[in-house]
Amino acid sequence: MRDSPVAGPGRRLLVTGGAGFIGSCFVREILGRRDGTRVTVLDKLTYAGNRANLAAIETDPEQASRFRFVHGDIAAPDVVGPLVAEADAVVNFAAETHVDRSILEPEAFLATGVVGVHVLLEACRAEAADGGLRPAPRLVQVSTDEVYGSVANGHARETDPLAPRSPYSAAKAAGDLLVGSYFATFGLDVVITRGSNTYGPFQHPEKLIPLFLTNALDDQPLPLYGDGLQRRDWLYVADHALAVEHVLIHGAAGEIYNIPGDTERTNREVVGLLLEELGKPWSLVRQVEDRPGHDWRYAMDGARLQALGWRNRTDFREGLASTVAWFRDNEPWWRACKSGDWTAYYDRQYGSRLANGLLVAELAAGDDVSSR
Ligand code: NAD
Ligand code: TYD
Repeated sequence: MRDSPVAGPGRRLLVTGGAGFIGSCFVREILGRRDGTRVTVLDKLTYAGNRANLAAIETDPEQASRFRFVHGDIAAPDVVGPLVAEADAVVNFAAETHVDRSILEPEAFLATGVVGVHVLLEACRAEAADGGLRPAPRLVQVSTDEVYGSVANGHARETDPLAPRSPYSAAKAAGDLLVGSYFATFGLDVVITRGSNTYGPFQHPEKLIPLFLTNALDDQPLPLYGDGLQRRDWLYVADHALAVEHVLIHGAAGEIYNIPGDTERTNREVVGLLLEELGKPWSLVRQVEDRPGHDWRYAMDGARLQALGWRNRTDFREGLASTVAWFRDNEPWWRACKSGDWTAYYDRQYGSRLANGLLVAELAAGDDVSSR
């Protein structure tokens, strides 16, 4: 166990990618606790980064007094160095995160996921070499279950080999390997978390749940890739963010911790539950051309994190209901995401898919998908 907790008066966290979906949840949770922790967010504000995700902090004088926003790139050493030098811990959420976009344009995934992670590591190494009174900051690398690749049977453990299959997951795996190498070679205080598919308020509507939710609110078609029998393990965003904090405080240096969601569902099952929650018909669903290299199943073993004392708090139905309620109440937020460059992206990704889309029968309860 680490004897230097990162919460409390005077502690300084650098949260990279803190204007995104999970990072902003992490920042809102920590500052909302009003325990004196100070947070700097470093974010490039890509199409997925949004200052509005942090508005509740910036309009609350007490939280705002402990918060600073820096607009910048984790791959820029001159920006990163001074911020890392003043931090007690760095939590890296920054990444390009959408698999479909990594298939269309992979370059940015490498720039942030590989070069950016390396710049953060080098800045931590410079602090460790400095030999000053302050210890070098701990670095938490927020990674993903996708680095294990498609898991046909059982549950991936932290010691399993990496087998990424998309440019997104390959870039994340490269980042993880760099982080591990800086522990082995330079003894840096690093930890890696691997979260499963996350959902909840403030998620950019490019991802399955918010895309289908917002399309359904507009009675627009829902583009289901392939047969829709792919399986994901769903994790509520606050559980993901707080599990990352748990690892930051309690994780052992050099270790990796899976964060499963304990909710494995086929995509069809997820869409069915979502439509039920929305009161919208299955006839909105279209079966469309599959994603190339589509991973069939993600599943992870969470024993190591459980042994650290972590338990998820939000059950899937409850999390889905809060997510639907939030998107209903925050229409201007998601309409802004679905404007500007979004239209070109949507046409490129879905235009011909939807033109050739098929009506698809609802999966009957009890249909056997285990034979795949
Ligand atoms: P997101 O796309 O919502 O946000 C990413 C944030 O990083 C944005 O604010 C963006 O502006 C910022 N960013 C991108 N490149 C940057 C750069 N070079 N420098 C500084 N900031 C940059 O992502 P998310 O869903 O919140 O994911 C956060 C992290 O969690 C990612 O590392 C992702 O790989 C990981 N993760 C996500 C999920 C999921 O289901 N969303 C699951 C497991 C792990
Ligand atoms: P996504 O939210 O993109 O997350 P990931 O690819 O990181 O798991 O997709 C979740 C699942 O939903 C995945 O199996 C792909 C599928 N999907 C669709 O069927 N249609 C879509 O339009 C999207 C975005 C995803």
